[in-house]
Parts: sequence; C-alpha cells; structure tokens
Amino acid sequence: MITDLWYKHGLIYNFSLSGFLDANGDGIGDLEGAHRRLDYLQGLGVTAIWLAPFQPSPMRDHGYDISDYYGIDPCYGSLGDFVEFSRACKQRGLRLIMDLVVNHCSDQNAWFQKAIADPGSKYFDYFIWADERPEDDEEGVIFPGVQETTWTYNETVGKYYFHRFYEFQPDLNMANPEVQREMLKIVGFWLELGVSGFRIDAVPFLIAEEGINLKDPQPAYGLLRDIRALAQWRKGDAVLLAEANIPAEKALQYFGDDGERLHMILNFPVNQALFYALASADTVPLRKALEASQCIPGSAQWANFLRNHDELDIGRLPEDQREAVFAAFGPDDNMQIYGRGIRRRLSPMLGGDRRRVELANSVMMTLPGTPVIRYGDEIGMGDDLSLPEREPVRTPMQWSDGPNGGFSPSKDPVRPPIDSGPYSFEIVNVARQRAAEDSLLNWMERIIRSRKEMPEIGEGEFCVLETPAHILALRFDWKDHLSVFVHNFEDRCCEIALDIGVAPECTRLRGVLSDTSFDVGEDGRYPIVLEPYGYHWLRAGGLEQIPQSR
Ligand code: GLC
Ligand code: CA
Repeated sequence: MITDLWYKHGLIYNFSLSGFLDANGDGIGDLEGAHRRLDYLQGLGVTAIWLAPFQPSPMRDHGYDISDYYGIDPCYGSLGDFVEFSRACKQRGLRLIMDLVVNHCSDQNAWFQKAIADPGSKYFDYFIWADERPEDDEEGVIFPGVQETTWTYNETVGKYYFHRFYEFQPDLNMANPEVQREMLKIVGFWLELGVSGFRIDAVPFLIAEEGINLKDPQPAYGLLRDIRALAQWRKGDAVLLAEANIPAEKALQYFGDDGERLHMILNFPVNQALFYALASADTVPLRKALEASQCIPGSAQWANFLRNHDELDIGRLPEDQREAVFAAFGPDDNMQIYGRGIRRRLSPMLGGDRRRVELANSVMMTLPGTPVIRYGDEIGMGDDLSLPEREPVRTPMQWSDGPNGGFSPSKDPVRPPIDSGPYSFEIVNVARQRAAEDSLLNWMERIIRSRKEMPEIGEGEFCVLETPAHILALRFDWKDHLSVFVHNFEDRCCEIALDIGVAPECTRLRGVLSDTSFDVGEDGRYPIVLEPYGYHWLRAGGLEQIPQSR
C-alpha cells in the first residue's frame, strides 16, 4: 500500500511569533521575522511548524484569547504578510499548523460584545449563561491560584457566563449549530490561506456538550468528525492535532474507531511518565504508558514532546511520582504552578547536564509517534523565573550575542531575552552553537536527520523489550526494517544482555549515530554497553541501512 501520511514522517517545531524574531524593530516578533528564519528551520531539518495563535487579541493569555478569528494581530503584520509567510513555508516544503482556539474567545470578541449589548440577538446564544451563580462555580477551575471561578457575573446582562479558563475567555456554546458553523468557517478560511492543519486547543472542553455539565460532560465526538470531514474535503492532506490531556483509554474515542476524527493527539500521559523516568531513573511507568497507547487506528498518530508553552503538567501522575518530579525538577515554590506543574524549561530542569539533555531529546525522538520540538530547546535555552505564571518559558529566541540576543533591534523589547546567568543569550545562542562543532545545535541537527531516515519510528509497530528498570529499550518493525533504541536513565555505566525477540536474518546491531556495533551472542542476546545517561540507536545489520519511506 502507498502511504502518504506526511505527519507520520514529520517533525514539528513550535513557536510563537512574538518571541521569535522582530523584523520591524518595534520590540515584538512578527511574521516578517519568522519568514527570515524559515531557512534556519529548514536547515535544522524540521518538516512542519506549529505556530501559536496570531489572530487579533488583547494578549491576556498569550493570544489564546482571540478577538477576531479572521485576522492577524497588527503587531505581527497583515493578512498579506501571513500569505507571504505561508507561501514561503510551502516553497521550502515546510507544513504550517496553526492553533484552533474555539473552546472560548476573548471577551473583546465582537460576538461577546454584541451578546452583552443585545441579549435578544443571536449572539447571546453563542455563549453559556446562568441566571443564578451555580453552586459548583469554584469547581473545574483550570488555573487555580489565578482563576477563582468558572462563572462570572456580567453587569450589563445581569447574568453569569461560563468560562472554563480565565474570566476574560467566555466559553463558546458549541451546542449551538450556528457556533459550529462558525467554527467550520474558521477552519475553511485558514486552509484557504495555506495552512496544513490545526492544533486544536483544549479538545476535552471543546466537545464537552454545552460546557455546563461540568461533573459529567457528555463528549460531542461528532464535532471532531465534522471538523475532519470539512478539513479533508477542502484540503486532502490537512491534519488535526489535539491538545487533550486524557488517559490513553479515552484516546480511541478521540481518534474514532475507523480513524474518522482526529489524526494526532499530544501524548500527555507519556510526557508525564517520561519526566518521572528522568527524575527517578525508573522507566516502568513510562513503559506502561507506552503500552497503553499502542492500539490506535491506522491513520492515528501520537505526538511526543518534552516541553511546551505551558507548565510541565504532572497532575495525572500518582502522588509519589509527582512528588519525585517536583523534588528533582521544581523544588522551589516559585518553580511550581497551579498545584500540578513546573514552569521551567528543559535544560535548567536537567541541571544543564548535556548528557541528560541529549538523553531526553533522544528518547523523545524515538518514541512511537511524531516529535514536537519547542523553539529554543535545540540550543538548550533557559527560563526566567522572575516572570509571572507561564511566561518564564516564553522568553525570546536567542540568535546571537548581539543586542537582545539578536531577537530585536528595539531598545525596549516587549519580551526581554534572558541576559544573565548560565542561560544568558551571551552564552546560549544559535550563532555560537553553529560555530562550535560539538554544540547541542549541531547534535540536534544530526539526530533530526537520522530520525527522518528512520520512518519505522513514525510508521512501524513497536514493542518494549525486557531490560532492568533504569533502561528503556524499544524495538520498531516496519516493512523489512528493524531497529532498536536503548536509553540508560542512570548516572552509571552498565552492560546488559538484550533479547530483541525473533529476528531471523539479524546477527548484528549497527549504530546509527556512532560507529558502534554489537554482535549477537551464543545465548541469542546482544551484549550492549551503555555510558552514564547513554543511548544507542541501532539498526539490524544485513538489512538495508536507509529504508525507503514508501
Ligand atoms: C490551552 C493552551 C494554554 C491556554 C489555554 C486557554 O491549554 O495551551 O496556553 O492558556 O488553552 O486557551
Ligand atoms: Ca515587530
């Protein structure tokens, strides 16, 4: 069968325009700036960009509070600049994925403004209202400590409106067919302007019917099918990537039995178990999480990530594991947030230890699914804990040791880059790492290249091999290809005898990233030596070394 599912071979790179590159010097990153860095991204080797929200917004939630779904915030440029940008992505073979934030809008959105100005208008039913303050209005708050309630009184209307997130983000009433039509129109609009898909924000809440039945929301899966049907009819290769922090058992419903709903889901359970493994060197929960995410329909795919623009959410780990992650990676109160997360970047959490940073990235790249790289992680950027809430992980990209790290020529950038300590732009920047042969950036480029040459990770079947708890070994099979990835989570050298299972033609495992190889022993096992935090990407010898992707 010919497979043409690009997202299964892809590597996604995520950033927000505001912190990437400021071309016009007003202190805010913009479309023109991102345009100028497309060759950098192409050189890095990623195949798709997930761009954070860029539509007009009061920016009280990093643009996730949208006031007009059909425009570009003027601080980023014009609709014309967007089309130039999406065209330039296409020219380089880079796919563009944008956020679809339709669970809620900004209270400045014309829909909400019209609803409160005239409760008799059709816009009133675009939102969810209650005459009395609901009893459970303090339950289901997403940002505890910052957000007090999910129902806020509107003086003009004299009623309470529902908001799953901040009070300036009224939830849209998805049960209203007219709101559903609006949502599909938004999807159609941006597809027409060149995007290849959407990262759908807050999916479990989006499909929670009516948004009011907090305790037992009945998911409206039909909505996901409708979005997919429209997206694929308008653009055959469009993909839907869901932000859904759900247990793996629920994922099937989100993908659909025949894969007729979402294409991809960000794998939050695996992300959390991976951080537990990094914190404790115990990979057993990670193996369980991987095995739980094994049975998905053919077109479905997991997306794997280390960090994103939000807190590292470890809220679904059992308490002892969560405590272990807090103790290792976020021991200070100021590092923790919402009672469930850590507001730090990857590198500082791992103590800047290059071996551990490589280990984490190497694991993420070789988990079953599609990798999603957070901007700046390719150079090991740090965080600025003096900033509020989730802002510490959103500081500008560090391009050079020039003014503002090369991010902006402005004297007063809206987002100041990190300019002191070991993660300062003077030390950690793209220009410097490009020049240093053994830099993290050059290492990243190399593993991205190797990852692209191993389509079996994105497309193949996998199984977890038996090893001691501090080692994770995965085997992938696809067409005639067999590969094995072994990672040592401990700060100790070790040797294991690896049983890779039945593999008739194979007597030697060859290193993909280094010139090592291991021959099968008389016991049918491979004696494998691992450095502290060491890893091997291995391919069965004798078989073709670089498989065809089709
Ligand atoms: C998602 C986004 C987060 C945002 C929230 C509300 O969880 O990832 O950044 O605050 O939705 O839109
Ligand atoms: Ca600018």
